[in-house]
Amino acid sequence: MQVQELKEFSELEHDTWSTLFNNLKDNRAHQADPIFTEGIEILGLSGDRIPDLNEINKKLSKLTGWQAVPVKGFEEVDSFFKGLSEKQFPIGNFIRDNQDLSYTPAPDIFHDLYGHIPFFANKDYADFNQRFGEVALKYIDSPEKLKKFDRLYWFGLEFPLIDYPEGRRIFGGGLLSSFGESNYALSDKPKVLSFDVEKIANQDFRIDVYQEILFCLSSKEQLYNCLPDFEATI
Ligand SMILES: [Fe+2]
Repeated sequence: MQVQELKEFSELEHDTWSTLFNNLKDNRAHQADPIFTEGIEILGLSGDRIPDLNEINKKLSKLTGWQAVPVKGFEEVDSFFKGLSEKQFPIGNFIRDNQDLSYTPAPDIFHDLYGHIPFFANKDYADFNQRFGEVALKYIDSPEKLKKFDRLYWFGLEFPLIDYPEGRRIFGGGLLSSFGESNYALSDKPKVLSFDVEKIANQDFRIDVYQEILFCLSSKEQLYNCLPDFEATI
């Protein structure tokens, strides 16, 4: 990963963060998996301004040993998986334009830091991500197989839903950081399939539209234990 210094954000950019964070208040309360909202609390993320990454990283290193590292924007899969194996999660070193809050040209600091990092305060989630990186790296010389790991990350960590006896929740950072798509994901519009590693390995996706197909976990353990079955299918 090409690690950068975190940029100095302007007051206008801090306001963009605040607007995005505050708009998602009800979504956090009613749609997000509890470990996400716990992570927000534990790490002290708030709508005041873009969080101080050094403070977040101090807390994360005590909790799970992970670090959030600023990068230019989009990471290639091999570099992304290597980062995971080293307990590093890339953070886009910019924030979207306030003229259109629903659009970002690449994963920005709101998507990465708000959508993903709260999960990394949870040891089981964090450990699973490290294992994911280690297993994916075994296939670093096979673009075909890496593409399948990319699909597993997409459907299993960016866009998964999860069922609880009390109802369905969102378990993915890609959904949780988007007001429009999180509401869409829990509506009757997308086709929701049961989490299935073989289907996921063969399911293409587009990054520029709301996901027409989503996968729903029956438990977190189903995700955390899926790597041996996934490896067997690819
Ligand atoms: Fe993401």
